[in-house]
Amino acid sequence: MVRAGSVITIEAPAKINLTLEVLGKRPDGYHELRSIVMPVSLTDSLTLTTTYAQVAMTITVGPGVDLSKIGSVDRNLAVRAARLMQERYKINAGARIHIHKRIPIGGGMGGGSADAAGVIRGLNRLWELNRPNDELMALGAELGSDIPALVHGGAVLMEGRGERVRGLFDAEEQPRCQGFWTVIANPGVMCPTPDVFRKWRAGLTAGPLLLHNMISSIRTSDVSAATDALHNGLQPGVFESYPDVAQTATRLKEAGCLGVLLSGSGASVFGLAQSEVHGQEICRNLGSDLWHVLVRTCPVV
Ligand code: C5P
Repeated sequence: MVRAGSVITIEAPAKINLTLEVLGKRPDGYHELRSIVMPVSLTDSLTLTTTYAQVAMTITVGPGVDLSKIGSVDRNLAVRAARLMQERYKINAGARIHIHKRIPIGGGMGGGSADAAGVIRGLNRLWELNRPNDELMALGAELGSDIPALVHGGAVLMEGRGERVRGLFDAEEQPRCQGFWTVIANPGVMCPTPDVFRKWRAGLTAGPLLLHNMISSIRTSDVSAATDALHNGLQPGVFESYPDVAQTATRLKEAGCLGVLLSGSGASVFGLAQSEVHGQEICRNLGSDLWHVLVRTCPVV
């Protein structure tokens, strides 16, 4: 029995893609991907409350998040996720969703997908559905390609359109994985994902050892090895079409990052740092005219 007034709070982490290989265009118009996705310690905070009414949403924003970029409530992925769960599991109750957004909107950090993943996981508990993770990931895949990886949580290998996801580490290995200090910067421009994929041209291929090298560098927390294995097949097209994004990458490099890469389809760019102190130094070098944040990749959910 779902009780109105029950509340749950959830931290929904953003993600970065340490590798993103675009393997080709599929007959359904999507692209075949292979990507290592890691959540980071920049989160949106979600508060979910069971109500007797429909699904409703309110949003507040943290520093630098542009509220004007949020689309209509009906198209919001968090709202659509709640409505899909209501319908799929025939729930009479509604939900009030409050999101405090810290993840830049349209930034290639999976902000909207993170919120949807948080809603799916949260309502599974709040509405006492007890559905298994695989089923929740498949539900998320109906709404967006990044959602299954974020429902799964932790460091994952994502394949297909995004719907095939497996954790890189088992429960024993997970705590040993330290993650990387990373500075993420966002120039404030929008790179619409469909446009970025439309402009993708086969050409930039990754070496056969890329995946292996990145996974072992994450396993051993070897940031130099991770730097050598950074790869994003969408990056050349985005840098060409959006000079502000290319400029952001240059600034991160000049500020001292070990390696710099476009996150997802942009517009955010991240740079790896040697340590927390090094990350803080990079942030000081960047100055205040470019939105940026120092985070840690955090495979432990
Ligand atoms: O699945 P999602 O709605 O997040 O995808 C947004 C757009 O990104 C798709 O409409 C498609 O143009 C592109 N895309 C793609 N191949 C993928 C994922 C996304 O072409 N694997």
